[in-house]
Amino acid sequence: MSISNEDRQQIVAIIEQHQTLPGAMLPILHAIQDKLSYIPEDAISKIATALNLSRAEVHGVISFYHHFRTSKPGVHTIEVCRAESCQAMGSRELEQQAKQKLGIDYHQTTKDQRYSLEPVYCLGNCACSPAIRIGDDIHGEVDGEKFSTIIDSLSTYSLELS
Ligand code: FES
Repeated sequence: MSISNEDRQQIVAIIEQHQTLPGAMLPILHAIQDKLSYIPEDAISKIATALNLSRAEVHGVISFYHHFRTSKPGVHTIEVCRAESCQAMGSRELEQQAKQKLGIDYHQTTKDQRYSLEPVYCLGNCACSPAIRIGDDIHGEVDGEKFSTIIDSLSTYSLELS
């Protein structure tokens, strides 16, 4: 998918700003994702050229870190905690219910571009496991039913705004 000229200019500016730093790749990737919410394919070749690396090397770093994404996320990114405390309290079951409710797997976005689903490893809310985060909001003691209620309320809220 091609990107806008504005996004392209932002990518070039970020690369120019960071490329002389030691270990420039990670700061560049973080800055691009912070700005655009993902790392477009166009950025990868530009980063590779600027840092004198192959595209495969840039792809390798991106795929090593779960944090980075190469497709545009939905309006709401839902992160389900998979760390120990949440697992002990049923997060594996919750993630199956979440995938079923949204009809997507981890690292995917719904067709209507509303929801993306991502795993996360501890949200610092272990006392209220299992936990999820949607944007800046952390929800605790989430089971399948509570997850559905949260998603339905987001859908209703989005419809009211449109
Ligand atoms: S283990 Fe899930 S919030 Fe800490």
